Amino acid sequence: VPLQHCNTFGIAARAETLVRIRSQDDIRQFLKDPLWGRQPVFVLGGGSNVVLTGDVAPVVLKMEIMGMRLLRETDRHWIVEVGAGERWHDMVAWTLSQGYTGLENMALIPGTVGAAPVQNIGAYGLELQDRFDSLDAIDLATGEQFSLNAAQCAFGYRDSVFKHAPAQPKYWPLTGTVAMPRGLGLKGRAVITQVRLALPKDWKPDLGYLDLQRKQAEKGIEQPSARQIFEWVCEIRRAKLPDPEVIGNAGSFFKNPTVSSEQCADIIAREPKIVHYPMDDGSIKLAAGWLIDACGWKGKTLGRAGVYDRQALVLVNRGDRHSSEGSVSGGEVMTLAAAIQTSVYERFGIRLEPEPVVV
Ligand code: EPU
Repeated sequence: VPLQHCNTFGIAARAETLVRIRSQDDIRQFLKDPLWGRQPVFVLGGGSNVVLTGDVAPVVLKMEIMGMRLLRETDRHWIVEVGAGERWHDMVAWTLSQGYTGLENMALIPGTVGAAPVQNIGAYGLELQDRFDSLDAIDLATGEQFSLNAAQCAFGYRDSVFKHAPAQPKYWPLTGTVAMPRGLGLKGRAVITQVRLALPKDWKPDLGYLDLQRKQAEKGIEQPSARQIFEWVCEIRRAKLPDPEVIGNAGSFFKNPTVSSEQCADIIAREPKIVHYPMDDGSIKLAAGWLIDACGWKGKTLGRAGVYDRQALVLVNRGDRHSSEGSVSGGEVMTLAAAIQTSVYERFGIRLEPEPVVV
């Protein structure tokens, strides 16, 4: 099965077997199947955060569970329940059309709702964890459904329990509302089927991010509505991020690294212009895009992989994203990534960590 149109880089890898999942029952049926049920699986959402470095041998479970509804209301929140297969951006637009505010800063993020908790997506001062209520998932070992709240998901910067390998005991029972022991990872062990978001009724605009403040000044609007912020975020993203339908990419390719304030002082002494943001815990986050740009990589090409000319943190497909022969390969992307990591390490002593899942 060709996967080129199932990943936003447009890498022309293939899957041995692909199964479309439209309900929790589809997963249970699959797991019960005597032939397929014991095979290793790979869960695929919108394919916007993966680099496929070859054909995929595990059975690909393509998540297509749909549905968006207001589940319940409290004094302070609308609780919205969404199927894992819905596109994140469509869901954000739907909530605003219903008058449920709070997701506008995360407009236009590619990918599905089910993939959002895995890397705790975020943009313009807001992360999924700020609007998260709970999720339902299926244990791939037993077919049982279980639910996790925010604490159990162990969200961090582009991180969650779903990015970490299972610790011992390997088959901790996952059923109902589980008590997750600290340090238990769920990578490869569970598939997210529904996500519930808690959207605040006492809404205030979040304009802390510099790009949004600039937009506000440009538009001259003192008290923007959630709808206006949604439009602004779309404008900002369209101006500096490539449309994956045209130029294949997986968003930011590296995480923004964090350093201690001592390390940062050292670097600033050498590189006074370095872009950095103090974090609540005293550490300092550095703009990886700036580091890559400073090493001269912006706009460069290696094979059919390139560094986007308007945002150095985004690696792009310089081949034909829709052609099976002319498109970039996962190997070319990873070769470019390694060359960038080496440059940044040699100049700044900082190791950049890839953000997408490398398969
Ligand atoms: N910069 C440069 N040159 C560049 C790119 C950036 O000098 O080529 C500097 C600029 O000074 C800029 C700063 O780096 O002000 C930060 O850049 P930007 O505002 O574009 O944000 P980012 O840190 O590169 C992060 C997220 C994005 C998210 C934006 C907006 C990560 C890894 N990336 O990017 O998320 O949309 O902030 O909130 O945290 C993603 O995860 O895929 C993603 C796109």
